[in-house]
Amino acid sequence: MKVTVDSARCQGHAVCARLAPQIFVLDSDGYNRMGSFTVDPSHVDVVRRAVALCPERAIRIDDPNSSPKVV
Ligand code: F3S
Repeated sequence: MKVTVDSARCQGHAVCARLAPQIFVLDSDGYNRMGSFTVDPSHVDVVRRAVALCPERAIRIDDPNSSPKVV
């Protein structure tokens, strides 16, 4: 599962890192600058929650067949 964080949109709310610190890592300034990366499909639920809860809508799942669900 490919995930992309748009660093231009990230404002450092850190919801992602609190939800899934094993996946989302913030830089020393508190911003998510991870860009595009691959996540094991077993983490799909928590990634979808991060997509839904990021206030800046900076996180997306790029797989065309896995649209984020609203939680
Ligand atoms: Fe940034 Fe959204 Fe996470 S604003 S730190 S990507 S919750």
